[in-house]
Amino acid sequence: MRFTLLSILSLAVVSTTTAQGANSSELLVPTTNGPVLGHYAATAPASVREFLGIPYGAPPIGRLRFAPAAKPNPWIEPIDAGKFGPTCYNAMIPPELEIVAKPPLEDEDCLSINVWTPTKKRSKGPAAVLLWTYGGGFTFGGSFTPVYDGTNLVRDQQDVIVVSFNYRLAVFGYPGSRGLPAKQQNPGLLDVRSAVEWTRDNIAAFGGDPKRITLFGESAGGSATDTYLYYAKDDPIIAGAIMQSGTVSLTDIGVLGLPFGESWGNLTRLVDCGNQSAAQELECMRQVPAKYLRDTMSANNLTFTPAQDNGTVFSNYLSLLESGSRAKVPLLVGSNDQELLAVNNTAEAAATGSFSTLQTFTCPAAQTARYHARIAPTWQYRYFGAFPMRFGNFTMPGVASHGAEIPQVFGTYDPDGASEEQRDSSAYIQGAWAAFAKDPKQGLRKYAPNWPTYSRACKSLVRLTYNNQPGATFVYPESYEAGCSF
Ligand SMILES: *[C@@H]1O[C@H](CO)[C@@H](O)[C@H](O)[C@H]1NC(C)=O
Ligand SMILES: *[C@@H]1O[C@H](CO)[C@@H](O)[C@H](O)[C@H]1NC(C)=O
Ligand SMILES: *[C@@H]1O[C@H](CO)[C@@H](O)[C@H](O)[C@H]1NC(C)=O
Ligand SMILES: *[C@@H]1O[C@H](CO)[C@@H](O)[C@H](O)[C@H]1NC(C)=O
Ligand SMILES: *[C@@H]1O[C@H](CO)[C@@H](O)[C@H](O)[C@H]1NC(C)=O
Repeated sequence: MRFTLLSILSLAVVSTTTAQGANSSELLVPTTNGPVLGHYAATAPASVREFLGIPYGAPPIGRLRFAPAAKPNPWIEPIDAGKFGPTCYNAMIPPELEIVAKPPLEDEDCLSINVWTPTKKRSKGPAAVLLWTYGGGFTFGGSFTPVYDGTNLVRDQQDVIVVSFNYRLAVFGYPGSRGLPAKQQNPGLLDVRSAVEWTRDNIAAFGGDPKRITLFGESAGGSATDTYLYYAKDDPIIAGAIMQSGTVSLTDIGVLGLPFGESWGNLTRLVDCGNQSAAQELECMRQVPAKYLRDTMSANNLTFTPAQDNGTVFSNYLSLLESGSRAKVPLLVGSNDQELLAVNNTAEAAATGSFSTLQTFTCPAAQTARYHARIAPTWQYRYFGAFPMRFGNFTMPGVASHGAEIPQVFGTYDPDGASEEQRDSSAYIQGAWAAFAKDPKQGLRKYAPNWPTYSRACKSLVRLTYNNQPGATFVYPESYEAGCSF
């Protein structure tokens, strides 16, 4: 929706006459593509300004489907940044997550970005930026998810901005077509780059410091962050990275991936675009209605995840890691104590769960920390908080499982159900993430009780919320890596 000049003026009048007396001009912010009109965050109106659903790329539709994002089409009248933009088409949301992860609105035109920033009267100077990349196996997820709301983190920390964005998923992000140009097989991963560039070019207008952008993400979002460190190594723009329970290993064949082009081949046949040259197939697939593509891919359980194209995803990550061929920015990397839950209560199932946690999360994080520490300040954490989580009427028992740290980082845990330990643990973790973003090289070294940078030779593994106690304790990294094969 766009405002007319008249409605802007009347809104300005309304805002200046509100009880807060805040300066309404701080809600009207110019961006490189046109002005946006935000609002005060509903739950923290005196502290946080919120701008939602700002386009950071042109609609990736028609001939732009499967292509890297183009610059947004400029606009003149302020756009209403009052609600989240549509979520990129999701596929195969796990049934148990539907209640929290089902998008209210999906559309192919989904490249939007959101900003939570302190009100001007709270700001002491340009704020550090935490740029969030959600998880969901590259097939589902979206920035609308309430647990990713940036309001509380911005309210509770001084001079920190949270930015989140939607990136393309499943076939729209990772098509695997031989008709696409070399090095552009993964438009969904390139959306991360577009969001970083938008943040660099625009965040100053929202009170942010473009020289202190930390890219952070969880699960596939952590993996996307890690891939970014490789493909954007020569001009990373970001000042630091935080990877929560996700490294590049999650995109590697054998975990999520399939042989290149297999899902694409099957989907093209299912929608009558098959049996043609790669270029004709691609052309045909750009004509199919987006929702029909999504529904067909979901109904047939077709998985689309990042493909090796030697431009965004490489085939030799271990040697690139070992040789330090990645962005030399400070890194905080970690995972949770029990990422993968036992599906039943048998000892056998528990053993399977802990083995998978080790192989899929603990060892890749440890290996990343070990080598990255040679090129930049690096910290490794392991999260132990076991607080019950309520989803609607359903309460999950307290376990440090996959994603359990997210509400602690964002401060979006259920305030009514939270114990004092949970609140204090969250505050401590928020402070750590903010300290890192504000000063990626030194912030955590000074964060009480002075986090040591990663070294195998000292007690540098940061245990967060161990035994549900807020704060950090430190042990040798090898304490949890015994079964790793490196
Ligand atoms: C693609 O179709 C072939 C033939 O029907 C089938 O064997 C294969 O498992 C399918 N691949 C995927 C990823 O569904
Ligand atoms: C594609 O070609 C194969 C082999 O010639 C044939 O069996 C199949 O029906 C064709 N599919 C389509 C969608 O035309
Ligand atoms: C897709 O997976 C679901 C759940 O595993 C299964 O019930 C369904 O039969 C599968 N559909 C196809 C076409 O393979
Ligand atoms: C990527 O590079 C590797 C090693 O140089 C090569 O074997 C592979 O074929 C390349 N893949 C693509 C898609 O270009
Ligand atoms: C429990 O899980 C284990 C490992 O996944 C499996 O082998 C076993 O059959 C399961 N037992 C029951 C009773 O479901």
